[in-house]
Amino acid sequence: MLVGILLALFNLLQTSVFASPVISGAHTLSDFLDRSANFNDDSVISAFVGELKSLSSNDSSKCEQCITRLAIGKSLSLLRPELVPPVFTRWCKETAYMSNSTCTSTFSRNTVSTSYTGTNFADMLSLMDPFSYDGQLYCFYKEKACPKPKTPNVTLEHMWPSKQPKHFLAPEPSANDTFNVLHISDFHIELDYTVGAETNCTLSMCCSPNSKNAKSRTSHNSTAIGWNSYHDSFYTNNSFVRGPLIDVFQNQSIWSPATTFGSYTCDAPEILVNSTLNSIAKFCEDNSIQFDFAIFTGDMVDHDELALTSFDLTVQSEEIAFRDIKDKLGDVAVYSVMGNHDSFPYGELAQENHGFLNYFSYNAELMADLWEDFGWLGPEESQYARKHYTGFSVETPRGLKIISLNSNVWYQKNHYAYWNASQPDTFGQMEFLIEELVESESKNQRVWIIAHIPFSQEALPLPAKMFAEVVERFSPYTIANIFFGHTHKDQFEILYSVPGTDGKTVENAVAFAWISQAVTPWINNNPSWRYYTIDAKTFSVMNAYNYYTKLNETFTNNGDEPLWEFEYSSREGYNIDWPEIAPLNATYWHKVATRINESVEYNQMYENFAMRFSPFVPDCSKSSSCDLNYCYLTSFTVDEYDDCVAQIPTASS
Ligand SMILES: *[C@@H]1O[C@H](CO)[C@@H](O)[C@H](O)[C@H]1NC(C)=O
Ligand SMILES: *[C@@H]1O[C@H](CO)[C@@H](O)[C@H](O)[C@H]1NC(C)=O
Ligand SMILES: *[C@@H]1O[C@H](CO)[C@@H](O)[C@H](O)[C@H]1NC(C)=O
Ligand SMILES: *[C@@H]1O[C@H](CO)[C@@H](O)[C@H](O)[C@H]1NC(C)=O
Ligand SMILES: *[C@@H]1O[C@H](CO)[C@@H](O)[C@H](O)[C@H]1NC(C)=O
Ligand SMILES: *[C@@H]1O[C@H](CO)[C@@H](O)[C@H](O)[C@H]1NC(C)=O
Ligand SMILES: *[C@@H]1O[C@H](CO)[C@@H](O)[C@H](O)[C@H]1NC(C)=O
Ligand SMILES: *[C@@H]1O[C@H](CO)[C@@H](O)[C@H](O)[C@H]1NC(C)=O
Ligand SMILES: *[C@@H]1O[C@H](CO)[C@@H](O)[C@H](O)[C@H]1NC(C)=O
Ligand SMILES: *[C@@H]1O[C@H](CO)[C@@H](O)[C@H](O)[C@H]1NC(C)=O
Ligand SMILES: *[C@@H]1O[C@H](CO)[C@@H](O)[C@H](O)[C@H]1NC(C)=O
Ligand SMILES: *[C@@H]1O[C@H](CO)[C@@H](O)[C@H](O)[C@H]1NC(C)=O
Repeated sequence: MLVGILLALFNLLQTSVFASPVISGAHTLSDFLDRSANFNDDSVISAFVGELKSLSSNDSSKCEQCITRLAIGKSLSLLRPELVPPVFTRWCKETAYMSNSTCTSTFSRNTVSTSYTGTNFADMLSLMDPFSYDGQLYCFYKEKACPKPKTPNVTLEHMWPSKQPKHFLAPEPSANDTFNVLHISDFHIELDYTVGAETNCTLSMCCSPNSKNAKSRTSHNSTAIGWNSYHDSFYTNNSFVRGPLIDVFQNQSIWSPATTFGSYTCDAPEILVNSTLNSIAKFCEDNSIQFDFAIFTGDMVDHDELALTSFDLTVQSEEIAFRDIKDKLGDVAVYSVMGNHDSFPYGELAQENHGFLNYFSYNAELMADLWEDFGWLGPEESQYARKHYTGFSVETPRGLKIISLNSNVWYQKNHYAYWNASQPDTFGQMEFLIEELVESESKNQRVWIIAHIPFSQEALPLPAKMFAEVVERFSPYTIANIFFGHTHKDQFEILYSVPGTDGKTVENAVAFAWISQAVTPWINNNPSWRYYTIDAKTFSVMNAYNYYTKLNETFTNNGDEPLWEFEYSSREGYNIDWPEIAPLNATYWHKVATRINESVEYNQMYENFAMRFSPFVPDCSKSSSCDLNYCYLTSFTVDEYDDCVAQIPTASS
């Protein structure tokens, strides 16, 4: 059997590696065969590590080396996939290719207690073609070793009927009948948040028991009188119970201790999530407002190191987040997406039909059960969501269709998105989306699309291009709105029907997406939520009302609850001349973006809103941090964003 494996290995190396244009010699192979006379894991590992190491002594380019490493890894993955993680981890560390901890989290296999991604790397290798677009794409995004490859020119237009003249117009709003929808996003609940832990940390996740500042401090901070360090405070039956005060300044090694409700460098303690949800419930009660339903655009799990992100933590965070939502919002149905953090291992998601479904189906099953139990999905919708984790749809009682997409499909960190990457739809997600849209269009039904990660950054270029093509085809007649989360900033982005700077005109603005602010303050933002007033006939958004709390005021408030306040509304906030009866559509946001481009004052206004007036909002008149805002807001895909940024002198220099 060993001989069989060896021969197969030899053949593979012959065909897939040494036949490649990048490697011409097979000098190490005979060494390998010799040493493998007593074939065992250690010798295979050593041989492959040696092979990988020898590449860097060559004067081939970094890009060629990266591609060749993938080819060697692929050979190994086809025979001994379990040896890919130890080989790549060892090679990575011994050549100091990345820091040891990054080597470990990138290439080691995951266990139930760590969210490492080496297992997924091995899966990817087994399916990818290193010498095609796949390898180029991987070596650009994952290792910054190759130049960005050109995005393939593919189209999905054969999958839909042609766009009729009426499809270029959105239906007219009713002008007199609206309802309300809540939008919440990015909780990132930090379950081990510890009052008194370091917020000014250089190691580990801040505010966790492991967080440390590598530099020790010399003097005690006696200025922090009234510091809010009441631990074990909590909400029960919507009433707030303040816990006992602890002297967090006793520990001389802490620079800046975590307070009760959160910190700008930390994710949300559960009590902040409860405060947020209570503020929503109280707002409704005080103002006699009801939400027809809510949308949640993902990310319940915190930003802890992958070494400390376990399967249990992932599941627990998801369950607690939804339990708290259900508890505070009562009968309001919540339609959700999964974020990149709501997956184990982190950021990964496999196609449903290529053998790795079983790693991820637990999550879809858990969510579908929970959402059905809470009364948010009907039995049929839940059954679909449980079986099709890349996307499902629901129809609200008023007849709006909501399509929920799992954005790990296009996430740059998801290894499974790197095989057959030049094909438009290995996940079958686009096919699902298009079928839903074609069906709705034929019934004159309007649609909302919800997903976590926007397509303008952190998305892979081809899926972004495909999505933009679909959105353009079905806007503005069928697609009424698109909602994302992920960035933690209050943002929007516009899709123009003609690419490039010259295409960014009012006539070409066809669609746009809302990007929601977050509940987590991480990083440097005030916690926030919003609701929309929706035209009942067209499901267009008439206005968005944003609420926030000034987190810094909770640092010295004797442990009282945060104060939640109205921040601004999207219709009035930017002071744009816009007819009262017109919805906030792509044309409106084009006008806002144009003002932001033309005036520092508007750019500043946008930054203030994006970060909810936190103490860390940059001063746009003095810093360059606001220079890319216009590119961001007017680029719908990652290629458009990259092209736009490349034209800005300060950014590309
Ligand atoms: C290094 O490159 C040279 C020429 O480009 C080639 O002959 C040799 O086989 C390469 N070695 C490895 C290990 O790829
Ligand atoms: C990284 O790991 C390698 C191999 O295990 C070891 O030799 C090296 O000392 C480590 N480097 C650091 C900075 O710890
Ligand atoms: C795709 O088409 C555009 C415009 O025709 C062209 O500039 C680009 O090079 C093409 N890309 C590829 C990968 O062929
Ligand atoms: C809105 O106006 C239409 C047409 O004028 C009318 O039929 C409808 O009853 C009105 N709806 C409400 C909620 O006032
Ligand atoms: C003080 O804080 C550090 C973290 O910066 C922690 O390691 C240490 O255990 C704490 N000491 C005490 C007495 O709590
Ligand atoms: C001491 O605490 C105060 C109050 O939080 C803070 O503003 C200040 O930055 C701290 N000083 C140092 C040196 O950490
Ligand atoms: C948050 O609210 C949930 C549900 O009401 C409750 O079970 C939990 O104990 C609360 N936690 C805190 C820290 O307030
Ligand atoms: C919460 O409310 C329930 C029902 O009103 C009551 O039975 C329970 O004792 C209350 N819990 C606390 C801690 O006040
Ligand atoms: C944070 O820690 C650094 C040392 O790592 C120190 O120089 C800085 O003053 C600290 N900032 C605050 C606000 O405590
Ligand atoms: C990748 O695409 C090729 C070409 O269309 C196809 O033959 C192959 O089966 C695909 N790979 C997988 C694993 O589906
Ligand atoms: C947005 O609404 C205005 C006013 O009704 C309309 O003129 C414009 O065409 C709409 N834009 C889009 C992209 O639908
Ligand atoms: C909180 O931050 C805001 C914005 O920088 C500032 O205006 C306010 O004075 C701060 N409040 C406290 C209590 O520090």
